[in-house]
Amino acid sequence: MSKNLSQLARRQGIDNTLFQKLVVTDAGDKSANLKQQRQTLAKEFLMGEAVIHGAASFYDFLDDGSNNQNANKKAYVCNGSSCLCAQTQVNIKEKLVDKFGAANVGHITCLGRCAENGAFQVDEHNFSGTDINNLAVIANEADTASNEHYQVRCTLPEPILSAEISDVAKYYQLFNELSKQFVTREEHEQLLDKLVESGLRGRGGAGFPTGIKWRSCLNEQHNEKYIVCNADEGDAGAFSDRYLLEQRPHAVLFGMLMSGFLTGAKIGVLYIRAEYPVAITQTEQAISEFEQLGLATDFNFKIIKGAGAYICGEETALLRSIEGQRPVVSVRPPFPTQSGLFGCPTVVNNVETFGSIHYIFSNLSENKNSGVEKYKNLGNGKSTGSKLLSLDGSFTHSGIIEVAMGTPLTEIIELAGGFTKDIKALHIGGPLGGVVPLGEVHKLTIDFESFAQNGFLLGHASIIGVPESMKMIDYIAHLFEFTALESCGKCYPCQIGAVRGQEMFEQAVSGEQLIDSELLNDLLETMQLGSLCALGGGVPLPIQNILKYFEHELTPYFSDKEIAEGAHS
Ligand SMILES: Cc1cc2nc3c(=O)[nH]c(=O)nc-3n(C[C@H](O)[C@H](O)[C@H](O)COP(=O)(O)O)c2cc1C
Ligand code: SF4
Repeated sequence: MSKNLSQLARRQGIDNTLFQKLVVTDAGDKSANLKQQRQTLAKEFLMGEAVIHGAASFYDFLDDGSNNQNANKKAYVCNGSSCLCAQTQVNIKEKLVDKFGAANVGHITCLGRCAENGAFQVDEHNFSGTDINNLAVIANEADTASNEHYQVRCTLPEPILSAEISDVAKYYQLFNELSKQFVTREEHEQLLDKLVESGLRGRGGAGFPTGIKWRSCLNEQHNEKYIVCNADEGDAGAFSDRYLLEQRPHAVLFGMLMSGFLTGAKIGVLYIRAEYPVAITQTEQAISEFEQLGLATDFNFKIIKGAGAYICGEETALLRSIEGQRPVVSVRPPFPTQSGLFGCPTVVNNVETFGSIHYIFSNLSENKNSGVEKYKNLGNGKSTGSKLLSLDGSFTHSGIIEVAMGTPLTEIIELAGGFTKDIKALHIGGPLGGVVPLGEVHKLTIDFESFAQNGFLLGHASIIGVPESMKMIDYIAHLFEFTALESCGKCYPCQIGAVRGQEMFEQAVSGEQLIDSELLNDLLETMQLGSLCALGGGVPLPIQNILKYFEHELTPYFSDKEIAEGAHS
């Protein structure tokens, strides 16, 4: 069924996707009959109306025909973990409701304004920090520039991802040189060998070797291939992809261009979340600058704007989303490099992964000083190169920091000037990342291995400070609630398990029912082992970390003494 729908979507191509039509229709004339518009789309795409409704009803920001509580609001309050920890949002919501009325205020997760917190959106423009004090002006002219401030720092002698690109034409010269020098299939293989040698691993969370992924796509025989940039950065606390797209978009485009060149793909698609309007406009501008350069390439870029769904960051759900299908996760194999967008071989990489390519392919002829050599010499040999970290508003110097893989976490906290308040833990790597108590911080270095060995997860490397005042019981309830809301519903351990977990913890908080540790551990194990993807399978990790390290805080909410048997193992 899903394969048939992919092929039907393919007939229309990337310039006429059902998903973007749904987004545009929804944002268009509100007086028009939505049902009729969707019937027309069903005919155009030869799909059943149920398929169209199934897709549209999935997204936070699309009208599902039954008055979606969160679609088409004047204003949205960010309810991501960082703003929750910063405890700024009750005030923000009160002020927005006062100004616009409760019916016109929705919620959004998350705006990536975690360096300042107090994040909200009005008329599709994002605000944070002290902006709420300017609400009277914002209400009339939301395009008034927000007063956002965050620091960008780099501890490397030579920045990689945060390097400024002052001369765009000169920047793309590297593509001209490489495409002239590496022409044959054999030569493309040589460049891929170099990429493998650099040790670059995907920055979207799983850390898969990028060179191997690209080679797998090259090896597929197909006349149509795609390069997809995953810019759906939905992890609360993360804003490094937003930073790159807003301030270094050419680094991302260059990486996609090289990926297309080496795998035989002609189209690059950037799936950018709707919550990042400036990232979309900055990338659009960069694409037009790229086109004006008139490089000798037939590679084209296309932006797809998301519509509010965390699971669209998972690569198979993302591909189904572009096709206009309901974005549920697909079983792998086949992997996207074998059967991806519209059933064609597709490379899906994170924004930061693509952003690393220019540096790696620089000075290839200078053996000792080539980008490959320098890149692989940073880090611990297994995790190489540099990593962007998103430091939230709990740090004195919040913002983006670029560090070499292997940098001790304590060093980062020092560089960030410590915290602005009393912190008891760091939630690192998004909702599915680990919760690290301050007492464990000294054991960690910024690399995939150190985090995994110590029972945590580097993920996309966002860091949220969990304050002393945050009750861990509430934080677990928040994590379950997030998963329950964002579950795609494909598998029961996640779809039902997350709701059950949320109920358990909410009932414990309200005093209705104490938690039975055996039932909880059984639930966590079922989710971990039985879920199809890392949403349901991953959320037990931070919860087990909290059970293990904050047992003293949680004991009163449990019916038995040994609360975290599973977490201690
Ligand atoms: C629930 C879930 C959410 C994800 N969200 C993102 C995301 O926002 N951005 C991203 O690049 N990868 C995300 N991923 C990982 C992608 O599925 C995929 O592994 C990644 O885009 C591959 O790129 P990389 O190899 O460059 O990391 C997510 C995975 C899961 C299971
Ligand atoms: S774990 Fe959750 S999000 Fe992932 S496939 Fe299962 S239901 Fe969907």
